[in-house]
Amino acid sequence: MAEQGQISILLMARTKAQNKQFTAWLEPEGFVVSAAATAEEALALADANYFDLVLMAQRLGSKDTGPFLERLVELFPETVVSVLAAEPRVEGAVAALRKGAFDYLPAPESQKELLALVTDALAFRGQRRESVGQRRRAGGKYDVENIAGQSQPMQEVFRLIHKVAPTDSTVLILGESGTGKELVARAIHYQSSRKDFPLVTVNCGAIPSELLESELFGHEKGAFTGAVRTRVGRFEMAQGGTVFLDEIGDMPPMLQVKILRVLQEHQFERVGGTRTIDVDIRVLAATNQDLAARVAAGDFREDLFYRLNVVPIQVPPLRERRSDIPLLCEHFLERFAQQKGLELKTLSPEVAEALTRYDWPGNVRELENLLERMVVLAEDEVIGSDSLPPKLLDPAAGELTNGGLEELPEVELPPQGLNLKAAVDQMERKLILKALQRSGGNKTQAAALLGLNRTTLVEKMKKMGLTSGRG
Ligand SMILES: Nc1ncnc2c1ncn2[C@@H]1O[C@H](COP(=O)(O)OP(=O)(O)OP(=O)(O)O)[C@@H](O)[C@H]1O
Ligand SMILES: [Mg+2]
Repeated sequence: MAEQGQISILLMARTKAQNKQFTAWLEPEGFVVSAAATAEEALALADANYFDLVLMAQRLGSKDTGPFLERLVELFPETVVSVLAAEPRVEGAVAALRKGAFDYLPAPESQKELLALVTDALAFRGQRRESVGQRRRAGGKYDVENIAGQSQPMQEVFRLIHKVAPTDSTVLILGESGTGKELVARAIHYQSSRKDFPLVTVNCGAIPSELLESELFGHEKGAFTGAVRTRVGRFEMAQGGTVFLDEIGDMPPMLQVKILRVLQEHQFERVGGTRTIDVDIRVLAATNQDLAARVAAGDFREDLFYRLNVVPIQVPPLRERRSDIPLLCEHFLERFAQQKGLELKTLSPEVAEALTRYDWPGNVRELENLLERMVVLAEDEVIGSDSLPPKLLDPAAGELTNGGLEELPEVELPPQGLNLKAAVDQMERKLILKALQRSGGNKTQAAALLGLNRTTLVEKMKKMGLTSGRG
């Protein structure tokens, strides 16, 4: 089975041939792959081995695999599960996400698609432990040249990246969701002298707080019930490289003090261990929260804030650098045409104008997703305004400042009265599901539709029993 540092994947594809094809695509990339033909077989494998990721078909023959998914998530909550659909549908997506899948998407048709899917799923769990080979192949992919932008605020971001990359300073990357914080973190790592060592990403908000400590610091065998073997944490895996603490604002207070010690002394102990471990790592952190306000409110340690905030880099929201929009469009149009092997499309002047006028609550990610959809759906070489979603055609419709309330159906107060709290909770739940449906399960977009920030939506989803994912 997987050696320490290797990533293990359990496959349960629709057919044996597909299992074989995926295995052939994954193994040369250094993944350890096990394949199962039935849900029973998959459960037996999962029971005997640890898997970082499970890729499972939504249907096996005529059978829906939903019950298996439920069981898997219940038994192995740490494992990331992606559901592959032969014919993806929103209802399927919502059902899979509700059952705890991380992602729901069409079965990949090329090695590139499969690797992208796997990387995305692993990054979500903070498991992006690229092999040196993979990183070499990534080449200049994470250079600043890949961050499109020429506006004055972006020039400032580039200047700071160049300046801090060669140092070992801790960098705190700030900005709204979808502005490109992760891209900045990657650019810093790959421009630093640590570039041939791992960049380990930890999404502090996506890992349940009970698991986060052992995820970060590892644990000794027997440290707690279920700790059947010693596990190396993220900080140790990053030895020589960089740890990117994404969504640091979600770091539980109990762990904040341990992080502070790593920053100051480069030392920690594994959970349940007594041996002090020294690490040579650099820390980058990002958040879309106002950390200073969190400090003032008393739920983020002031000493940790100052220690992280040595060099802050503020990534501006897209609406404050509209001059970058045409450049970003060009960048994405080229990329999608290339990725999908389609002819290069252009935007009609009306579309270009509407895109520049819109407020982009989901920032660059929202723009990227919209362009991808338009590239795929547009029939003509020039993308016309019929491809635009209504909220972009009518500037007023996209604004949620009025709460969008007139769009909601009239509500009735039953003669016998009602429990307001329960009714409001129910309404909230319905609207969240609607938004997720409309965004195809993309939380950033769903949050934008609801005028929430992504973290708040994820929190609400957790309370509703909708498991958190990325996107
Ligand atoms: N300047 C840019 N040029 C090209 N692509 C960009 C740029 N900024 C963001 N993107 C793309 O937009 C998407 C969102 O970026 P990223 O994940 O870095 O945002 P983020 O700030 O980390 O968001 P979140 O807070 O939601 O995690 C990514 O697919 C990224 O590649
Ligand atoms: Mg991010």
